[in-house]
Amino acid sequence: MEKVYSADRYGLRRLIAGLAVIALALLATGVAAAERPGKAAIASAHYLATEAGHEILAAGGNAFDASIAVSSVLAVVEQTSSGIGGGGFWVLHRAEDSFETMVDAREQAPAAAHPDMYLNKDGSVNRDLAVNGPLSAAIPGEIAGMEYIAKHYGRLSLARSLQPAIRIAREGFPVYEKYHSMAKWKRDTLNRWPAAAAALLDNGEVPEIGYVIKLPDLAWVLEQVAEQGADAFYRGEVAQRLVDGVREAGGIWTMDDMAAFVVKEREPIRTDYQGYELITASPPSSGGIAIAEMLNMLEVYPLQDLDRVQRTHLIVEAMRRAYRDRSIYLGDPDFYEVPIEMLTSQHYADGLRASIRYDKATPSSMLPGEEGLPEGNDTTHFSIIDADGNMVAATLTVNLAFGSGFMVPGTGFLLNNEMDDFSAKPGEPNAFGLIGFTANEIRPHKRPLSSMSPTLMMGQDKVAAIGTPGGSRIITMVLLGILDFMAGHEPESWVSLPRFHHQYLPDRISAEADAFTAEEVEALRALGHEVEVRSGTWGNMHGVMWNRETGEVTAGSDPRSDAGRAIVR
Ligand code: GLY
Repeated sequence: MEKVYSADRYGLRRLIAGLAVIALALLATGVAAAERPGKAAIASAHYLATEAGHEILAAGGNAFDASIAVSSVLAVVEQTSSGIGGGGFWVLHRAEDSFETMVDAREQAPAAAHPDMYLNKDGSVNRDLAVNGPLSAAIPGEIAGMEYIAKHYGRLSLARSLQPAIRIAREGFPVYEKYHSMAKWKRDTLNRWPAAAAALLDNGEVPEIGYVIKLPDLAWVLEQVAEQGADAFYRGEVAQRLVDGVREAGGIWTMDDMAAFVVKEREPIRTDYQGYELITASPPSSGGIAIAEMLNMLEVYPLQDLDRVQRTHLIVEAMRRAYRDRSIYLGDPDFYEVPIEMLTSQHYADGLRASIRYDKATPSSMLPGEEGLPEGNDTTHFSIIDADGNMVAATLTVNLAFGSGFMVPGTGFLLNNEMDDFSAKPGEPNAFGLIGFTANEIRPHKRPLSSMSPTLMMGQDKVAAIGTPGGSRIITMVLLGILDFMAGHEPESWVSLPRFHHQYLPDRISAEADAFTAEEVEALRALGHEVEVRSGTWGNMHGVMWNRETGEVTAGSDPRSDAGRAIVR
């Protein structure tokens, strides 16, 4: 029996479980063996990516192979959010030996990068250089990450797992609503670089929904990688094309920068909450540490028994403190000694909690620290569990929508603008309003600090994977999703929840329109919080869960996007 969880317009409905029961898979008995799910679930931001993952599972692949298929198809159909011109983190759980790891294929700065590279003569930050065009792009990691996963964890060849992406790049995909709206926002930037406009727009205009985009150059790049491995991308013809194109357009990449990119396998952050072990992203992401800090602060509160105002107040106070620490302590651990043990310790969280009052918000200015700040809606996340219980939570990005907007002719993919995730100037907000200091300053070959928080939740009764895009808001969305899981709810609930966010600076709660009633907003204001109710939504969360007690495998795809899909098969 297959279950499809189809994304729908936000506000119209919560996802309806089992909306389309498509096939009677007679081989699947529906009764999971005690130690394995027996079914697989994939939830991603695009139905073609979810289908591609299942295609690879059906071909004998495991969750790790499927993650390559999903990542590479998203790199074709969702260049708004991720791609082979970007990078990301894959958190893996291997069922046979309960081994977990994080594959870090985060982009890294080229050798000629330096702390002042985005400063104007007067010392101000040149925001255009920092986010648009080749100077904003760091060396991409996604191809290296996928090859690494295929070699170390997959059952199939990289070439096999890339097949769906190559096919879709050649045959094309129809423009969907999210693509259309993001293209409206980025049209003028894409038009600055003819290759990007030709590949991703319709004669320089925003393509209509249903317009078919074919990317033969991207198919060629993927075929090179399928035939020759990642070397084609980092040392071969593709690398030369990229370096020449970037330099011609004013960038600073070299062939040595390309060859210097390596995947780093890192120990994930682990923390316990209410009997579950959470396994989440480690630096150069700030997400896992911030989540651990917040959960450690919140653990003593009976959150489920509190009224919504008191509950929100305490969660916001935890968010505020964790984001303050983000701005001060977090950066690439290969360049800056991140005090992971301190930040994730219960003792440290107990100290932070001691300053939280029940009756009053703590102004961020009263917290010791430097300064800080927020948001974004791009990046992509997917979650997978296969029939054997292998799991992947992966969050991938090109940073802002359509990344740098820059495409090297003959490649078919956009380059990221991940350099803006560094702190271009101490205390100066980036596109997400996030600030940073020495820990996240620009250095050659350094990886910019991320908020991406792919997370696994492992318990005796249930295991789950969760994550979302959303810039600085990723961390608080994942926190709210985790708390909803802990409250006993299903993936459809985590992904649909109305969201609120606080990130230390600016010192305010921002909330989706249906997060609070008018009375609750007033009550939060009475506690001293500034509350900004926003008309828009944020995030695009995708989660999967296996209930070991009932044997049920479920999945949820965020209703805020039209293209996402969760399928249990
Ligand atoms: N570029 C968004 C992030 O990595 O957090």
